[in-house]
Amino acid sequence: MNIEIPAPGKWVVDPQRSSINFTARHLFGLAGVSGSFELLSGELVVTDPPTGSIVRATANAQSFSSGNPSRDAKVRSSSFLHVEEHPAIGFESLVVEKRHDTWILVGNITARPRTAPVEFAVSSASVSGNTLVVRATGTVDRYAHGITAMKGMAGRHVELELSVHAERVSGAVPRSAAVSHGNSHRKEETSMTDLAKIAVVYYSSTGTVFELAQSVVAGAKDAGAEVKLLKVAELASEEAIASNQGWADHVKATQDVPVATSDDILWADAVIFGSPTRFGNVASQIKQFIDSLGGLWARGLLANKVYSGFTATATAHGGQESTLLALYNTVYHFGGFVVPPGYTDPVKFVDGNPYGTSHVNGNGTIPVDDTARDAAMFQGKRVATITGALKAGLADGPLGSGLGAKLSA
Ligand SMILES: Cc1cc2nc3c(=O)[nH]c(=O)nc-3n(C[C@H](O)[C@H](O)[C@H](O)COP(=O)(O)O)c2cc1C
Repeated sequence: MNIEIPAPGKWVVDPQRSSINFTARHLFGLAGVSGSFELLSGELVVTDPPTGSIVRATANAQSFSSGNPSRDAKVRSSSFLHVEEHPAIGFESLVVEKRHDTWILVGNITARPRTAPVEFAVSSASVSGNTLVVRATGTVDRYAHGITAMKGMAGRHVELELSVHAERVSGAVPRSAAVSHGNSHRKEETSMTDLAKIAVVYYSSTGTVFELAQSVVAGAKDAGAEVKLLKVAELASEEAIASNQGWADHVKATQDVPVATSDDILWADAVIFGSPTRFGNVASQIKQFIDSLGGLWARGLLANKVYSGFTATATAHGGQESTLLALYNTVYHFGGFVVPPGYTDPVKFVDGNPYGTSHVNGNGTIPVDDTARDAAMFQGKRVATITGALKAGLADGPLGSGLGAKLSA
């Protein structure tokens, strides 16, 4: 494997001499489909050390071509890429790291218009004068972008092969400039907090925590954050769920809420967990999801993110505070930043729980009220604001552009 690390500086991609090829498997053993996209633009801001580098690229969704006009029209249609509404496919790296002998770009692809994580392995990089040629491969999960048409026919994963020619246009770029460059126009237009990416990850049997989650999401969006509302997988048997009408109804009502994955946590700068209280602790469904994050934890990728939590109980003094404190114990192991609401807004003197939003539902007899909704909105807003400020502030420092980046990045 020939990898030459390019000199620090800004390298601008030449779309004419670059290519994006793909292969998608067909099910039933039929031959795979392969083809290409055109690159519209791209840049690499290389830093010293290279782990601070940033790579961005935009491809033309309309240019999808597999050599079969009717298939191409179908893939461009609203069933797949919906290119009329979403003409561009974007990539932005979050972490550049060397794993064993391979350089990996960990980042996000935004298509149609969902953002989902992706990793590209650099297979070669060579520099000749001011020209850089990089080849890399990665796998995109089309379902993660909401492209689920023809599940029974076309495979889920698309293999990408990138060949990128770039020209060096400027010399060494300080890490801070590398980071602020790509966001400069957004920073001028909007506040820093719109940069925060927040995953609200919840479990709810009978809907109380789900309602709180919706207000947390609304508050975070109000503060300009990009927010994903995600439920964790259910662990209870169908029989147990069916035995409680409220539970069965809630499962049905929320069947379209996406199930959280570790990729969502990798994507997020802040994770706000919501869980009903179970004997003074979080629900096993939330705990099971947290336990599934061991791989990210081992790679240091849960550290330096913001975390917060909210809960509900049946009874007053039923364990709300102990549930949130139990959740926050885990955050210390991640090396995360707990952002509690405290009493930092007048609404907190009304709901009275500085550890996180909470609601007493009286076993389903006390619906979520304005007190809880206001507190949840405020918590979403506060987490978004603090996360945006931390992210912008830390971009100049050793933690890199993304919260969750390794300390060594
Ligand atoms: C196994 C189990 C344990 C529970 N433990 C407590 C508890 O310790 N204190 C309490 O007040 N409510 C407890 N509850 C009630 C739930 O916290 C309450 O129903 C839940 O907050 C409602 O949230 P949901 O509608 O989002 O499911 C428990 C419920 C179950 C099923």
